[in-house]
Amino acid sequence: MPDPSPPEIWTAGRITEADFLDACALHHAAFPKPGRTLDQVIAKKRPVWMDTAPSPDTAAADPPPVRYVVRDPGPDGTLRCIANAAGLVRTVQTPAGLMTVAGLFDVATHPDARGRGLGAVVVRRVFDAVDDGTYPFCLFATGAARPFYEKLGAAVVTNRIVNSHADADPQANPFTDDYVMRYPADTAGRTPWPEGLIDLRGPGF
Ligand SMILES: CC(C)(COP(=O)(O)OP(=O)(O)OC[C@H]1O[C@@H](n2cnc3c(N)ncnc32)[C@H](O)[C@@H]1OP(=O)(O)O)[C@@H](O)C(=O)NCCC(=O)NCCS
Repeated sequence: MPDPSPPEIWTAGRITEADFLDACALHHAAFPKPGRTLDQVIAKKRPVWMDTAPSPDTAAADPPPVRYVVRDPGPDGTLRCIANAAGLVRTVQTPAGLMTVAGLFDVATHPDARGRGLGAVVVRRVFDAVDDGTYPFCLFATGAARPFYEKLGAAVVTNRIVNSHADADPQANPFTDDYVMRYPADTAGRTPWPEGLIDLRGPGF
């Protein structure tokens, strides 16, 4: 299998409708959920990627989310998204002070394209902003894919996590997946990972 071309970079608010729908189709294929329709995926993702009014939950200066996308011709020869990962920026409150981190979300490889290293390629694009020192950590949540991220150098964190901006329950964990992880696992010679409560100051991602 030849190396894939470098991922395309799509910025929220500057994505064509066709590309947005293509990414939603990948998400729908990669995360099958009984009873969920593609239209429901589209409705959930549209506010984040297309109707990008600034949210009161994120600092005005935060850059918009970015999506790293690998495309390939599908069975009918049309280019389609086969792998993607998204990155955002979030300033969280820790006992050691405010910390601006990268956030990772929407990681998916199409079931037909798994095991070719594409998931690693797109996730590393988000981790690059940590490797180059832009952010001290990347924070994210996952479930069954935990070993995939551990291979990429991430580790589970055990801090209690809340979202003080949540109307419903500001003490609840805003992440819904089983594990919250950080990259890098190895902090030797780097910013230490803070102990104690982390306030995400916005919704989980
Ligand atoms: C998790 C996922 C993105 C992996 O994508 P992929 O393109 O198949 O992964 P890669 O081929 O880049 O794998 C990179 C490495 O991780 C390993 N790996 C991939 N998925 C793994 C898993 N579930 N458990 C353990 N190892 C895994 C691969 O074997 C490979 O190891 P190697 O470097 O030693 O060869 C893909 O399985 C997927 O879309 N799953 C469903 C959606 C999902 O769970 N997304 C993550 C949500 S947080």
